[in-house]
Amino acid sequence: MAKLNILRYPDPRLHTVAKPVAAVDERIRRLVDDMLETMYAAEGVGLAATQVDVHERVIVMDTSGERHSPLVLINPEIIARSTELAVAEEGCLSVPQIYDKVERHARVTVRALGRDGAPFDLEAEGLVAVCVQHEMDHLVGKVFVEYLSTLKRERIRTKMLKKTREELRR
Ligand code: NI
Repeated sequence: MAKLNILRYPDPRLHTVAKPVAAVDERIRRLVDDMLETMYAAEGVGLAATQVDVHERVIVMDTSGERHSPLVLINPEIIARSTELAVAEEGCLSVPQIYDKVERHARVTVRALGRDGAPFDLEAEGLVAVCVQHEMDHLVGKVFVEYLSTLKRERIRTKMLKKTREELRR
């Protein structure tokens, strides 16, 4: 396995729309394993392939406190969503140290393929529902800061660019 580089906002590659995975083969399984290693190393609860500059519909998640319940969603599609909405504070490995409230569907049902290529349905609520909607946004090129006000988003953009410049200088 290998740790992958995570793109940081406002990298324009984060706005790429991912293509469906044609076949869950060895290449995809290696990607999934590398993404899990990358997510755990960065102490995140979710990671979309878009964030590691691979533009195929693959998501990994682990919302368990124990960090050993990986969830893999390949070609995920939302097949049902609650009309009820819920607001939760979100963060993102591509926007480090920024947290803000986002409103999303309180419950969603997602149909996807697992690491073995077999289809399954996931009925998600709470943190899992937040996470899956956040990660699926990445696959269509959307970062959670795009739900915030223009002013907030501009502040975050400036902060992230400064952080990246400082790191490059070191
Ligand atoms: Ni994210």
